[in-house]
Amino acid sequence: MADKDALDVARIQADFPILKRQVHGKRLVYLDSASSSQKPIQVLDAMDRVYRESYANVHRGVYTIAEETTAAYEQARGKVAKLLGAAGTTEIVFTKNITEAINLVAYTWARANLREGDAIVVTEMEHHANIVPWHILAAERGIQLRWIPLASDYWLDTSKLDELLDGAKLLAVTAASNGGATNPPGRGGPAAAPAAGALVLVDAAQAVPHFPVDVQAWGADFVGFTGHKMLGPSGIGGLWARAELLEAMPPFLGGGEMIREVTKEGFLPNELPWKFEAGTMPIAEAIGLGAAVDYLTGLGLDAVRAHEKALTSTALDRLTERFGDRLRIDGPRDVEVRGGTISMVLEGIHAHDVAQVVDEEGVCVRASHHCAKPLMRVLQVPATVRASLYVYNDEDDVDVLVEALAKAEQFFAR
Ligand SMILES: Cc1ncc(COP(=O)(O)O)c(C=O)c1O
Repeated sequence: MADKDALDVARIQADFPILKRQVHGKRLVYLDSASSSQKPIQVLDAMDRVYRESYANVHRGVYTIAEETTAAYEQARGKVAKLLGAAGTTEIVFTKNITEAINLVAYTWARANLREGDAIVVTEMEHHANIVPWHILAAERGIQLRWIPLASDYWLDTSKLDELLDGAKLLAVTAASNGGATNPPGRGGPAAAPAAGALVLVDAAQAVPHFPVDVQAWGADFVGFTGHKMLGPSGIGGLWARAELLEAMPPFLGGGEMIREVTKEGFLPNELPWKFEAGTMPIAEAIGLGAAVDYLTGLGLDAVRAHEKALTSTALDRLTERFGDRLRIDGPRDVEVRGGTISMVLEGIHAHDVAQVVDEEGVCVRASHHCAKPLMRVLQVPATVRASLYVYNDEDDVDVLVEALAKAEQFFAR
């Protein structure tokens, strides 16, 4: 490697068994990591090992393998806590994904604290996971949803932020858009909220996998993340929240393990974070997530970000050179303020048709509204083609994408 801090992509690719396969006789070019990332052998091995060598339920048995599995599960929590800059492991609650983490906040903190007439502020660039739980609550409680609009440069238009936050109880905002818009925490949206008296929930699903995150520096109160987008398995994600908030919140789901005592009259909730982890948790998945955190920290999140910035810049240049105005690319051009998620509309061709033709070339892209329908409405498209870059992608992948898109264009021009 020329630059000691640069990612050795060839070596990384060798860690991902799925990248060796072919589709339609072509090399698999996986450009859908914003939807779900692929998994390195280190994660697969960690999960395999727990099932083969020491699987048992956690926090229940006193026998050796139960203690080993419990230790591995709790070590995974410790790794996540360190990755996010949490004050301690009591602040990390495992859930099945970020959708469940946001619902946990909506069903516990929000229902305990919000009354009719209260307001929640969201943004037009949110994923449905950070909209629908608030719609459900708003309908149930007569709560007002206020929207921070998208600005013409794909940032949030914060010109009326003071007005929007006036009297609001929560600001729920993404740390990185999955639909081609940009990264709000860079521009003071969340920072303004505590001053206005609102708590801040950050959807970090597209942030934690891609750049260093420090939940305390964000000044956030709740931060959700999801394992399958950060090289970990599906079925595991979580919530970071300040311990005093978690202490004060009522439990979410009731059942085994989330209790300290149960009588015929009632129950006492368990200590943090187990108070929010009812029933048998996704044990191997949590351990797999711990291995994914090791893998990412081994690469270094600064190096991950630098790699994605450089590759995104190359991709934007090559796409623009090849297609000019025939390809609309949403999001800012400046790679300093955007991620490696490239949302595109090829003139006159439906996103699903494009995705089908490029699949023939072995290229996996997403064609969809990306679970961000309000954003799609603002951008005035029903769906886009989305190519998302990650640690195992390189310039060859970008070239294959460009050629595959050119084939789609030719095919539909006929
Ligand atoms: C920004 C953002 N938030 C939330 C989610 C939901 O993630 P999950 O389905 O893992 O709960 C996604 C997934 O696409 C996302 O991109």
